[in-house]
Amino acid sequence: MRIFRYFALLLAFTLYHTAHASAVDELLSQYQQQGAGQFSASAGAAFWQQDFNGKRCTQCHASSPQQMGQHSQTHKSIQPMAPSVNPQRLTDSAKIEKWFARNCKFTLGRECSAQEKGNVLVWLRGQ
Ligand code: HEC
Repeated sequence: MRIFRYFALLLAFTLYHTAHASAVDELLSQYQQQGAGQFSASAGAAFWQQDFNGKRCTQCHASSPQQMGQHSQTHKSIQPMAPSVNPQRLTDSAKIEKWFARNCKFTLGRECSAQEKGNVLVWLRGQ
């Protein structure tokens, strides 16, 4: 019966990874339904560094997504954003949306547009 256990594990593993791979895709197609056009990784990278009246994403996250960040207010460490170094990143669409809502309000003083969120995700997932 060990072979069945092996297949069950393999199936669980595959499902887990498929679910993970699709969180960003799921959001990208939602953003497109909301009217976003083609997403641009270079626009996402520029957005990450952009100054919004003295605030920016990189005041908490590191400028390089492969590095640890530090929260500008609480000084708590923030794990790297790049999925290549931190595989937990961008795996949960609800978590991504929750933090976009919070961080965009803080940084831009408004919600990010569907286009802006898509650009950042397309850039980040390749990091
Ligand atoms: C005031 C500090 C702060 C700023 C500024 C900030 N973030 Fe964050 N961000 C956080 C914290 C805290 C978390 C959640 C903790 C964690 O996941 O490590 C987080 C999580 C996220 C996540 C969730 C990723 C995941 O899958 O785990 C995304 C996406 C994100 N931020 C994007 C942005 C973008 C884009 C900007 C700029 C518009 C930004 N953040 C600005 C503090 C900040």
